[in-house]
Amino acid sequence: MMKTVNFAILGYGRVAPTHRDAILSLAPEARIAAVCDRDPAALDAAESDLQTTKGGVNLYSDLNDLLANPDIDVVSVCTPSGLHAEYGIAAARAGKHVLVEKPMDVTLPAAEALVQACAENQVHLFPVYQNRLNSTIRLLKAAVDKGRFGKIFAINSTVIWRRTQDYYDSAPWRGTRAMDGGAFMNQGIHFLDAMRHIGGEITDVQSTLATLGRSIECEDTGSALFRFKSGALGNLFVTMLGFNDREGSLTVIGEKGQVKIGGVALNTIEEWSFAEPDPGQDALARDSDYHTASVYGNGHKAFYRQTLDTLQSGTPPVDATPELDSLKILLKLYA
Ligand SMILES: NC(=O)c1ccc[n+]([C@@H]2O[C@H](COP(=O)([O-])OP(=O)(O)OC[C@H]3O[C@@H](n4cnc5c(N)ncnc54)[C@H](O)[C@@H]3O)[C@@H](O)[C@H]2O)c1
Repeated sequence: MMKTVNFAILGYGRVAPTHRDAILSLAPEARIAAVCDRDPAALDAAESDLQTTKGGVNLYSDLNDLLANPDIDVVSVCTPSGLHAEYGIAAARAGKHVLVEKPMDVTLPAAEALVQACAENQVHLFPVYQNRLNSTIRLLKAAVDKGRFGKIFAINSTVIWRRTQDYYDSAPWRGTRAMDGGAFMNQGIHFLDAMRHIGGEITDVQSTLATLGRSIECEDTGSALFRFKSGALGNLFVTMLGFNDREGSLTVIGEKGQVKIGGVALNTIEEWSFAEPDPGQDALARDSDYHTASVYGNGHKAFYRQTLDTLQSGTPPVDATPELDSLKILLKLYA
């Protein structure tokens, strides 16, 4: 039988329960062996959430104590974004694999240092871009890879979400340049990553960003124009000022097809039109499983599954430098 992979969740805030559920869904292959948070209230929440978990969960308020635990295989970094590299590097130096929430960090030197530390210490780096694993996006990618669109002319992504002032005020790091970034760095990065995943390399970037409705250091709204290496144009509009969470969509416009993946977070197929039918893919596009209700899709679960598969296969760590690409484009957009 495969060895159980022991995960530690570092930072038990808003996104941590999504990681908790994903890890618990993979028992007995995966286990939450520890949670670390410097906030006692967060540790209390973890303790009550996980009290029924078999095998016991170690709770730590200090990262060094967590890293001294030889049983931990993977540290899932779920702290504020500007701390990802610092903590990920510490985990790598302790010989732990690093699973890190997006963005890998808020500056390129920090994210590059994380990639380097993982390479030097021969540990895997798993940056979370869970939407790539949404069933909707996988199906779209398969259609692109089969050449069903012919020439792709343009990719449009629209993100109309609502993040209130209360959300930004809920933690001092939110909306700050040093720890978070704005609507593009925190929320829009999922959609930029999806655009790259579908459209390939981006060569030119222009943007207009503004802080229009929230009292934060970074942007709450913005528009970015891209040119892909293929010649296609890209357009990404992101706002956190929606009257509600309205849309998180991606539309691909090609000479032989047009697809819109929509819902609130790329979780439903709103249009699936092609000149040439492909009975297998077209049937999947009509399947209700491809219209997931959750705004997160099943991305985190699929991401942890993929992580486990990699660890169980025993393949050595690969160079994670290409994983920096979405962050690089994002930083150009800020520049
Ligand atoms: N992939 C996604 O869909 C998704 C969704 C939400 C958030 N995120 C990312 O997850 C990260 C966390 O976001 P959040 O909204 O959960 O933040 P949060 O503020 O709710 O939680 C962060 C937690 O980290 C803890 N922490 C901070 N410094 C620490 C330290 N030195 N040691 C231990 N614990 C420490 C805080 O006490 C807090 O409990 C961010 O990078 C964010 O971008 C990703």
